[in-house]
Amino acid sequence: MTHRSLRRGGSRLRKLWVPTLVALAMLATACGGGGPTGPGNGQNSLHPKGRSAEKIDNLFTPVAFVAVAVGIFILAATIFVALRYRHRPGRDDRPKQTHGSTPVEIAWTIVPALILLIVAVPTISTIFDLAEEPGRDALQVTVVAKQWWWQFEYTGLGEKGNEQVVTSDELHIPTGRDVRVKLKACDSSLPGGFNGGPGCNVIHSFWVPELAGKRDVVPGRVNETKLRADNAGTYLGQCAEYCGLSHANMRFRVIAESPSDFDAWLAGQREGPAVKLADAGEASNLFQKKFQCTNCHTTEDSTLSVYGPNLTHLASRSTFASGYYELTKAKLVEWILDAPSLIPMESEDCRLPGAPGGPGVTCVGMPSFTKDTPKGAPVMTRAEAETLADYLLKLK
Ligand code: CUA
Repeated sequence: MTHRSLRRGGSRLRKLWVPTLVALAMLATACGGGGPTGPGNGQNSLHPKGRSAEKIDNLFTPVAFVAVAVGIFILAATIFVALRYRHRPGRDDRPKQTHGSTPVEIAWTIVPALILLIVAVPTISTIFDLAEEPGRDALQVTVVAKQWWWQFEYTGLGEKGNEQVVTSDELHIPTGRDVRVKLKACDSSLPGGFNGGPGCNVIHSFWVPELAGKRDVVPGRVNETKLRADNAGTYLGQCAEYCGLSHANMRFRVIAESPSDFDAWLAGQREGPAVKLADAGEASNLFQKKFQCTNCHTTEDSTLSVYGPNLTHLASRSTFASGYYELTKAKLVEWILDAPSLIPMESEDCRLPGAPGGPGVTCVGMPSFTKDTPKGAPVMTRAEAETLADYLLKLK
């Protein structure tokens, strides 16, 4: 190498260093930042807070070290070979050619096999651990994945065990107790069946990174997983399988609380509405007749699974819209007026003739009541939206 080419090589290297350092810095901070559950974004599977997540993390950490060691070895060997045998001006001799080497071939067969064998031991034992049945006193919850929000059904309630409570967005669980979670896509959740209806034909994935691993939610079958939180707190969940327009907004919260707080919450959810629709004055007319909210929602019966979220105890939640927004009057009014402007939904055609599910009609989610309103459908005023929000926010 001449002096000049060395210098050129040096400045090229320096040019590479800057982007490399920037990329490393970005990588190091990618999981940082603040979040609702403290440092981090509240979805860090490397900071497990539940038993299943702990088991997964205990497997992940040692396997990651093995993988990084193998990766560094391969990278170093590649760089070494590329530098050692690179082309040099004036040296056209080929490296010494060999064919076959029994000791080397035996080594590179046996060493990876041994590494895989070592990794397999904790992997298989973790798989069996995670598949263990939840305890006998486990709380039963059926989770229904809809487009794009989560419904939670607490089943097996009442003296005969045939009662249930339906809620959404916020999954309350008692601390220190296993929760058996049955996962369904929405096709089988409605009375009379709603087979393959709009929004019922895609796969979702239920994931609370700090509590447990991912589990797919598949139309036409029931999958199971379990949760257990030993400490009270709010744990963020997220749909982890691409499921359409608002997949990224398909969030939820797991609220773990002491058994007595949980019992009090569940008792409240089993009660009737704080305000009966018939007693809601003008809101009753708007909700039932003018805007036909009752086509998709109920505010009267917390045991029912309907097309949209059950709103009987909406005001007992701190968030709405799949946990995307804090439940405030201002946000709720905005949402009632024009939900698709807050979260992308395929609902512009919802009130066209033939909807929902008619030929060529896409209808998933809340319609806009202020724009794209098909001919003849009433447009909502802000005052009407406020009347509706006032009514809904009374439903503790
Ligand atoms: Cu549901 Cu992604």
